[in-house]
Amino acid sequence: MRPMATLELKQLHVALEDGTEIVKGVDLTVSSGEVHAIMGPNGSGKSTLAYAIAGHPAYVITEGQILLDGQDITEAGADERAQAGLFLAFQYPHAIPGVTVTNFLRQAMNAVRKARNGGVDDPMPVPEFRKLFLGKMDDLKVSRELASRYLNDGFSGGEKKRVEILQMAMLQPKIAVLDETDSGLDIDALKVVAEGVQRLVGPDMGALVITHYNRILKYITPDFVHVFVDGKIVEEGGPELAEKLEASGYVQWEKPKEEAA
Ligand SMILES: Nc1ncnc2c1ncn2[C@@H]1O[C@H](COP(=O)(O)OP(=O)(O)OP(=O)(O)O)[C@@H](O)[C@H]1O
Ligand SMILES: [Mg+2]
Repeated sequence: MRPMATLELKQLHVALEDGTEIVKGVDLTVSSGEVHAIMGPNGSGKSTLAYAIAGHPAYVITEGQILLDGQDITEAGADERAQAGLFLAFQYPHAIPGVTVTNFLRQAMNAVRKARNGGVDDPMPVPEFRKLFLGKMDDLKVSRELASRYLNDGFSGGEKKRVEILQMAMLQPKIAVLDETDSGLDIDALKVVAEGVQRLVGPDMGALVITHYNRILKYITPDFVHVFVDGKIVEEGGPELAEKLEASGYVQWEKPKEEAA
């Protein structure tokens, strides 16, 4: 077991490259063993927050800090953050033609192992990798045929999401950020993916789950629900808050629309 991990966002402000502020001061702490859900309307800045946590260069942290286990990673590159134990499952995963799923995962794993080994190569022996990989594929009901295809190239929406969770299961991050991992999944796939995530949450991993719907939260029980509107957390509670939102929506927090000129 690893020591408990903690991701802390402190008064985080994030702007687009043109200076438009999208995330307007977020305080949030996610520790291993915890599931936090962020729910909020379209365009409120949830994905922007996720990209900023992952270190996407197009999203500029203008104020505040990101700490992982007390270390300031606000300025760290995306690869450094991944090596430190952060994982982001994207809302819209990209294809990488020419790189098979197997090779991508092997490279990603070995990069993380190298970083954890003080910068010295420490590749997982192929038989060990294969055993782990096949086991995780079976757990997540990912068809073996996908392993030899190019990453996300022509994958269906559901296949992309499963392969992302497979990647997460292989990399064993300390904190995982899942941006709408439920969108585009049919009911069976949702269950497999959500249970796959739930199994990984524990003493070694915490999760921040961004979602629109309560349905994924039936399989991944959130300890905390944060309502996110217009770049800010406007209310926090337990799982019951997700149910309340399902009924009420976000109108009570939304600014009245300005009259069109
Ligand atoms: N790269 C970008 N270029 C221009 N505008 C952007 C960019 N990224 C985000 N935005 C804008 O920032 C705002 C917040 O977008 P974001 O994707 O973070 O919202 P969201 O809460 O994830 O929405 P959804 O629920 O629809 O996924 C939107 O108005 C969006 O158009
Ligand atoms: Mg989004």
